[in-house]
Amino acid sequence: MIEEIRTEALDPEKFIQEKIHEIREIVGDGTAINALSGGVDSSVVTVLGHRALGDRLKSVFVDNGLMREGEPEEVVNRFRNLGIPVEMVDAREEFFAALKGITDPEEKREAITQTFYKHVFGRIVRESGAKFLLQGTILTDVDETVAGIKRQHNVFEQLGINPQEAFGYQIIEPLIQLRKDGVRKVGEALGLPREVFERIPFPGPALAARVVGEVTPERIETVRKATSVVERLLKDTGAFQYMAILHADKMTGMRNGKRDFGQQIEVRCWDSVDGRTATPTKLPFEKLEDLANAIISEVPGIVSVTYNIAPKPPSTIEAV
Ligand code: XMP
Repeated sequence: MIEEIRTEALDPEKFIQEKIHEIREIVGDGTAINALSGGVDSSVVTVLGHRALGDRLKSVFVDNGLMREGEPEEVVNRFRNLGIPVEMVDAREEFFAALKGITDPEEKREAITQTFYKHVFGRIVRESGAKFLLQGTILTDVDETVAGIKRQHNVFEQLGINPQEAFGYQIIEPLIQLRKDGVRKVGEALGLPREVFERIPFPGPALAARVVGEVTPERIETVRKATSVVERLLKDTGAFQYMAILHADKMTGMRNGKRDFGQQIEVRCWDSVDGRTATPTKLPFEKLEDLANAIISEVPGIVSVTYNIAPKPPSTIEAV
């Protein structure tokens, strides 16, 4: 049972000192690796880990081919500017090969998990000689996985999986007692730039969590373009999270006077405090029209745009 640290009761400075101490104790005089995705959780862990271990922590960014437009370069540059070197690992082909032909959501998550932890990280850890992987699992990830709602790709021990046996390294999870709002408080106290600790959440499986049906390079490119539009038009809403989802069904549309059997993008925009429950943001209808017009003109192949109006539960924030 993990003891939750409620956000109201969290003293970020004290938390940071305790976690630095804990990380040092566990790693001893060894070395550790951490995977930076650029999201709030992994960014906070990266800075915490560097405070604790200095250059005995190697940070890598795994380019899985599933990230948003320009994201890999942006994340690596941002951390370089903070004085934290991050190595980019190109694993795009490996991830697409693992996802080929899979349409079941849990099987997709499992393929990403295995590729990431077993193959890509297994190799990086073996080559580096590190024995520890530092990662930003939070309590919501554990709760939802244990409850069987959605297998978060970074949860193992609570499912009876021993990472040491399964992958050959130990996982350290300094944020596991926190929720998203608590992680943001810690990020602010660590001196991270506002754009990092207030960044909208982005899931570990990245854009694959937003493609219903098979994940292919082409389908990722479609949802990536739609994501850029949605993020551009909704960034000033103050919403908890907003996204574009590519559906698997096709529908008849028309373009330039001809029938066009095209694809559908669903837009979601959520109000939420910690991601456990959420309600759709009441966007003005003009905003929805702007979204539709921008998506159909900027994203090839889209003939239909919808806005999700169902709350979580029974919906979940991501579609996969
Ligand atoms: P759901 O879709 O479960 O999402 O309502 C709740 C929050 O978690 C994020 N999310 C993930 N984060 N690994 C992560 O690190 C995952 O596998 C994952 N799946 C969902 C989601 O973006 C939302 O903020």
